Amino acid sequence: MVVNRYTNRQLSARYPTDLRAWQALKTHYADMRTRELAHLFSRDTARADRFSLSAGNLTLDYSKNHVNSTTRKLFARLAKDAGVPAAIEAMFTGEPINQTEGRSVLHTALRSKISDQVALETPGVREVWEVLSNMEEFVEGVHNDQIHGSTSRRLTDIVNIGIGGSDLGPVMASRALRPYWKEGMRFHSVSNVDGTQLADLTVELDPERTLFVVCSKTFTTLETMTNARAARAWIIETMGHSAVEHHFVAASTNHDAMNAFGINPKYRFGFWDWVGGRYSLWSAVGLSLALVIGMDNFRRLLAGGRVMDQHFQQAPMDENMPVLLASLGVWYNNFFGAGTQAILPYDNRLDRFPAYLQQLQMESSGKSVRMDGKPVKCKTGMVIWGEAGNNAQHSFYQLLHQGTRLVPVDFLLPIKSSGADQSQQDLAIANCLAQSEALMDGFDEKGLETYRVHPGNNPSNTILFEELTPETLGQLIALYEHKVFVEGVIWGIDSFDQWGVELGKKVATALSSVVAGEARYSGSNASTENLLQQIRKKRL
Ligand code: F6P
Repeated sequence: MVVNRYTNRQLSARYPTDLRAWQALKTHYADMRTRELAHLFSRDTARADRFSLSAGNLTLDYSKNHVNSTTRKLFARLAKDAGVPAAIEAMFTGEPINQTEGRSVLHTALRSKISDQVALETPGVREVWEVLSNMEEFVEGVHNDQIHGSTSRRLTDIVNIGIGGSDLGPVMASRALRPYWKEGMRFHSVSNVDGTQLADLTVELDPERTLFVVCSKTFTTLETMTNARAARAWIIETMGHSAVEHHFVAASTNHDAMNAFGINPKYRFGFWDWVGGRYSLWSAVGLSLALVIGMDNFRRLLAGGRVMDQHFQQAPMDENMPVLLASLGVWYNNFFGAGTQAILPYDNRLDRFPAYLQQLQMESSGKSVRMDGKPVKCKTGMVIWGEAGNNAQHSFYQLLHQGTRLVPVDFLLPIKSSGADQSQQDLAIANCLAQSEALMDGFDEKGLETYRVHPGNNPSNTILFEELTPETLGQLIALYEHKVFVEGVIWGIDSFDQWGVELGKKVATALSSVVAGEARYSGSNASTENLLQQIRKKRL
């Protein structure tokens, strides 16, 4: 186990449940849980304003939560008692806070300016700006047709091949920033191992105009390498071997594997072990996005992330947006017993944002062991789910309004339409506001049939912003990144490792030769054995 200044500090910290602020919150909860949200508003006419906060382009209205000013003070005390200010400093200065992997956590350096001096002494950090300018040169080369396909046709169709953080970020952001796509450029993605995505794309795409961006930190991930090999076979089949170096580029840290694949050394974009997969959009993993939206807009995304970083570092705990969101997360998770949280964006372009946050939050916080190797004594990561706007309303809002479970909600609401008729966005706004109001106020009247009653009193945050621009998206992503970090610090877990995905990968590797009929099943799981037999029979 790696020992460092940060972890020493953390290991000496008590379990969060033993902290005085936690105990105080417990007592306070007994009072707050009986208070209706509507009652909190009726006692305080300035409540909506007093429980709103701005950072960058984002305004967080958290007034529709089961909180009052005492709660807010206790949240700040809990953050301080749990060592959040020291942890923030440790992250930005490059201390190896990813303890189980012995790594710094410096995705913030990727969006910093050199003058911010974010951990400049950490190996690799000084290369950040060089990689960015290499990316810029490449992106511009493609856009102005100096870099083209093997038959000299312009490269217009960018296919990101990756999975997890090497897929979700570029996919989510390219959909969110559709109005920023450069003329003639198109984004596609391939991630799942079953091969159907590529099969569908090869029907539609012209290989001469297609550029594959293979994104993989390790360049060994089964899904990505399987898809990359299939894509290479398609390019070879349609244009011959020599075309490979013109139609494949890569973002990776593994040069040997890129050599073996045949990636042109000029078209490799590196990053460093201190960039976690789910934080990698800001690195060369963002290349496919940059190829579609242009480097100017990619840099605007980075600038947005930096705005939130500065707010996170500078704002006091009780006015710090990520800290507040994290405190609310802990409040509903550990005190109110909520097991899930819904993310509901009212802009269809953010339709993959809930999936993006699923990886960010559930891979980071799905831990039951603390930094010191001991079991946690409270619940950690919640299940994160969601869907965009009215699609969600017509799907699962029934459960939010009349179900038996408490589901805290984050509404994300842009004021201006991102490239469609504003009158339609106005309808989306009306629906979003209506839903948060109805969730809180509910509906009941004398003589009403019980099945029509909406009990209300359901909490929500509304994150309001003027328009979904690259800067705003950068701020939103960084906001949730820091929220997840703060929750992890409070729980005492390592938010930056992901050991829980390893076992399944190992078992799948062993099973793949069995499924292919090349080996016998040597495991001891009777259900797997039975399923394998059925698969074999049905194939005959
Ligand atoms: O699923 C686990 C994981 O390691 C993620 O954290 C990561 O985003 C993904 O796999 C992809 O990894 P790589 O970029 O190395 O292909």
